[in-house]
This record gives sequence, C-alpha cells and structure tokens, in this order.
Amino acid sequence: MYVYKVPETVIGYEITNQMGTLLKERGKSRALILCDGFLAENGLIESALSSLETKGLRYELFTEIEPELPVETIEKAFEVAEQLEFDAIVAIGGGSCIDCAKILSAMVANGQSVNEMIGTGKVKGPGIFTAAVPTTSGTGAEVTPNAIVKWSSQNRKDSIVSSFIVPDLVILDASLTITLPAHLTAWTGLDALTHAIEAFTSKRSNAYSDMYAREVIRLIAGSLRTAVYSPHNRVAREEMLFGSFLAGFCITHAGTGAVHALAYPLGGTYDVQHGLSNAVFLAEVMKANLPACIGKYAEVAGLFGCDEPRWLRDKAEKSIALINELCTDLGIDEWRKTIPLKDGDINAFAEEAHSIRRLMDNNPRELSLTQVRDIYESVFFDVGS
Ligand SMILES: NC(=O)c1ccc[n+]([C@@H]2O[C@H](COP(=O)([O-])OP(=O)(O)OC[C@H]3O[C@@H](n4cnc5c(N)ncnc54)[C@H](O)[C@@H]3O)[C@@H](O)[C@H]2O)c1
Ligand SMILES: [Fe+2]
Repeated sequence: MYVYKVPETVIGYEITNQMGTLLKERGKSRALILCDGFLAENGLIESALSSLETKGLRYELFTEIEPELPVETIEKAFEVAEQLEFDAIVAIGGGSCIDCAKILSAMVANGQSVNEMIGTGKVKGPGIFTAAVPTTSGTGAEVTPNAIVKWSSQNRKDSIVSSFIVPDLVILDASLTITLPAHLTAWTGLDALTHAIEAFTSKRSNAYSDMYAREVIRLIAGSLRTAVYSPHNRVAREEMLFGSFLAGFCITHAGTGAVHALAYPLGGTYDVQHGLSNAVFLAEVMKANLPACIGKYAEVAGLFGCDEPRWLRDKAEKSIALINELCTDLGIDEWRKTIPLKDGDINAFAEEAHSIRRLMDNNPRELSLTQVRDIYESVFFDVGS
C-alpha cells in the first residue's frame, strides 16, 4: 500500500500578494521563509513578505539555499530553525529550495536527521505545515513525495521518498518565473519534459500517470521554445509552470528512469544543474529504450504535433528526432561541452547509475552495465565534442 497526498493548490498570476491571507486562513501566524540569496535580492519575494506584514503575520527569513541542495545547507537551515518559533515553512524558489523546506519540515517535526530519512518510507510522521511556491518550471517538487540531497564530500546524490513530505499548500504563480534566464528556462523545462516521458514509458505507468504525461508533453512541446526565446510571454510561462506541476504527479505515480539515473553522478560530482544533466541524456536513452516502447514513443511524436510518418516504428523514431531538434534549438549541445566529464569517469559513473535500482527498475527496457556505459560514451565522446 502507498498513500498519495495531493496538496491544496492555488493558481493565478501575480498572486503572491495573497500569501498573508492564505496562511492566516489556514490558522498560521509565524512563517519561516526559505529562498536563495539571488531571489531575496532581486525583489521576487517582496510582495509575499509585505502581504504577511499586512495580515499581521510574523516571519523570519533563511536565504542561504544552495543549488542542488547540499546536506550542509539543510543542516544550516535546521540550526537556524531550532532558534525560532514558527508554525509554517514557506519555500519560494526552485526545486532545491522546495526540497529543503520539505526535509526541514520533517526534521523539525520528527527529530530525524537527513541520513535517517534517506530511502523510501523512512520519514516517521507528518512534518509541520509547508507551502511551496515554485519559481522554476521544472522539478514538480511542489507536489512530489521526493526530496533530493547532495553529499558534497562523497560526490553523491540521494533521495528521501515519503508522502509525509508532500507540501500542504502550493501556490502556482507564473509571474515569478519571468526572471528565469534563458538557459535555466531551457534546462528546467527539459527536466519537466523528461519527467513526463520517463513516467509515460515507465514500467509503473498507469492510466492516471499517462493522463498527466500526455498533457505535460503537449504543453511543453508547444511552449518551451517560446518561454526561452520570448521570456515575457505570459501564456508560455503559465503553460510551462502548469506542465512542470503536472509532471510532478507523473513522477509520483510512475517514477522516472534511466535518464535520471545517468544524470545523478553528473550532479553529484560536477554540480551540473539537474535539468541540464537530464537533458544531455534524454534522446540517447530514448534510442536505447525504443524497442520496448514503440507505441508510446509514436504517441510522443503525435503530442509534439507530428502526424507523419504513418508506420508506428518510424513515428517512434521521429519522437527521438523531435527531442534532438528541441535540445539543439535550446543550445543543449553547446552546454554539454561545458561538462568536464573525463574518459576515466565513465566506468564509475556507469556503475553508480546502473546501481540506482529505484530508477533503473522503472525503465521500460532492462539496460545492462555495458549499455549504460555506451550511453555515457556516445553522449560525451561520440557526438562531435
Ligand atoms: N523533489 C523532486 O521531486 C525533484 C525532482 C527533480 C529535481 N529535484 C531537485 O531539484 C533541484 C533542482 O531544482 P531546479 O531545477 O528548480 O533549480 P534550483 O532550485 O537549483 O535553482 C537553480 C537556479 O535558478 C535560480 N532561480 C530560481 N528561480 C529563479 C527565477 N525565477 N529567476 C531567476 N533565477 C531563478 C536559483 O537562484 C538557482 O541559482 C535539484 O537539487 C534536483 O535534484 C527534485
Ligand atoms: Fe528531474
């Protein structure tokens, strides 16, 4: 048995000025706000803070969230939290910030360390009230039962999976994503697309997750280029934020697969941004998985608006070409060349990726260690680098 929790969700444009009202209506009076230094300085959280003041709520700020969420960041947040009194945690930021809030909420409520919660079902009980306000359109962390942490000293990433860490309240406000630079819009958007494609073809896919996955693929295929090249386009930003939110349900119900497993060592060792580390592998993993999911890949091509060719297998192959085109249009080939992966890394990375059974077991095709190694080789050393 597994219990899924769906957070209460508020959707609108320029609505963070309602934060005070939303928290007060839910009986909250003191908030601990988490965000990173950049967001604290660029004014993105101002309207939320003034709405708390207007409604008479007290708040404290923790602005030291680091990308890819090192364990040290969570421990620092916990030290600060221990000195304060609050009845709500509010995360305004990307997946790193939201994951930090989810973990902190469980640490404060249950007295567990990060290490004690690593794995599936290790969190002892509900956390304290948590609100998530995503400012990237990528991870879907605002709805998933997952939180991903990086052990910097061991060059490793690990995950905590528990329905107890799903946030209580989600505020989806696409106006917060307008400042996201083009490269982060592209990387995080491709992360959300990867969630949908991996869940759609996962061994655990089901009618419920497929329903979300189809809509995510349609939304992102239609809006990601516009969000990158016309950053102020409100419709594109709204569709990307809604798409990444729905993709969070895909992960929750069907999981991700080999793309995410191969991406983990890149993030752990070289601090490659999560979205980019997935984007570089997406097409190549799809190529390896093709024989196991021809029908679903043909559908992916259709969701990208492609009616031809008529033969199912050709159409499935077309989906890989469409992903390659999208990644090329978004500059992923160029960014891939900035990742300092060395020939000597490949064996260890392949072994680590292959051993992440939580992800590899969802993959539609069983990939051998050699196949995993070949994917690293072809992405980093065969593709005209
Ligand atoms: N919990 C989950 O289900 C889940 C799923 C996928 C990934 N993740 C994790 O989420 C993290 C990645 O999250 P992410 O991709 O959202 O990136 P992020 O949270 O690490 O943020 C990346 C950068 O974007 C900047 N940024 C965020 N919003 C901005 C805005 N509106 N304008 C300008 N800059 C902005 C931040 O300052 C930061 O420097 C990784 O740790 C990854 O492992 C979690
Ligand atoms: Fe992801």
